Amino acid sequence: MIALDADDRLICLRAGEAADDHHGAVLPPISQASLYRKRTMKELLEGLSREHSANVYSRGTNPTVKALEDTLAKLERAEACKCFGSGMGAVSAVLFGLLKSGDHVLFVNDIYGPTLQLAARLEEFGVSWSQSFAQDVDAIAAEMRSETRLVYMESPGSMLFRLLPVADICAMAKARGALTVIDNTVATPLLQKPLALGADLTLHSCSKYIGGHSDVIGGAVMGSQNLIESLFYKSYMLLGSVLAPFDAFLLLRGLMTLPDRMLRHHEDALAVANYLQKHPRICAVHHPAFCMEDKTLFEKQMRGHSGLFSVALKDTSYAETLAIADRLKFFGRAVSWGGAESLVLCGHKSDPAGRKTRIPATLLRLSVGLEGADNLIADLEQALA
Ligand SMILES: Cc1ncc(COP(=O)(O)O)c(C=O)c1O
Repeated sequence: MIALDADDRLICLRAGEAADDHHGAVLPPISQASLYRKRTMKELLEGLSREHSANVYSRGTNPTVKALEDTLAKLERAEACKCFGSGMGAVSAVLFGLLKSGDHVLFVNDIYGPTLQLAARLEEFGVSWSQSFAQDVDAIAAEMRSETRLVYMESPGSMLFRLLPVADICAMAKARGALTVIDNTVATPLLQKPLALGADLTLHSCSKYIGGHSDVIGGAVMGSQNLIESLFYKSYMLLGSVLAPFDAFLLLRGLMTLPDRMLRHHEDALAVANYLQKHPRICAVHHPAFCMEDKTLFEKQMRGHSGLFSVALKDTSYAETLAIADRLKFFGRAVSWGGAESLVLCGHKSDPAGRKTRIPATLLRLSVGLEGADNLIADLEQALA
């Protein structure tokens, strides 16, 4: 059994307590208002001059969303957090807010497809990008350019879940004057704290484990007060990816059970991965705890892994890979992950940016839900028979 940080459990349980004390309600009130009236014009103008911290208009700040932001900032040990209408809203705000024409962004590891699609779009605005699959910090340093302004990482990476030496990469980037950001969605703030490893920003799709019930789309970016404030004015307010107060409420509610859900996801995914590793039809299990090369990094920078991992099938055609996925009963065929229900997804033949991918098409990505490891193993047994 992994040990979570004792403070994190309390932070999650008290999610929303940062909101005003409304009649002692144990859950935060949903402030379903698009604008906030002030007593005087002077007060309104004063609020408009610091919209990142004043309730003026809900495209900027909203009390329910603020309660969520305060809780997420605490969990990531960040000075500040800004929430967004989706994970891609958070990614867009970071890329548009930090980069300008002439800058280069280096993506390291397997990156969520639409993030690279957005980078390809940014090319049309004079921002260049490249991707490194190296894990050695010197090899990554060799791919930095004089105009590299941002190093964007995923660790664990998408689909193959390989890890990066996060602290070393952050130190290297800092020495070269570049900012660092990590998409920490897969690990959640409970299992990895990128800011403590030296990252400038960490971001999340809250649509996964943070929400945890497959009923809400949201995103978040955490970092220093200065950086978050700068993103607020330079991109968040202008791009308009706003989280609705009701969705913030759902995310606060999800946070209350996050520690217990993550412990269960971690344990059950390990049991399922253990079973699959011994299965004759499986040639590789892509899970940080099962990857010999990443073992030291896993123990050093993560407290555990979530319920998400993938397996490569031995000598299996693409058609048979799809047929195996179709035979599964507990694992639903769907995109996304992080909810109570188990899900399965196949690899892609090319990445969404249209380039050759190193992810095999005969890969099955599994999101281990909360149905119980025995049920899931029995389901896989019949589908692989
Ligand atoms: C690693 C990662 N980052 C970002 C996103 C985007 O999040 P959203 O779907 O909430 O926009 C996803 C979505 O699958 C993801 O897997």
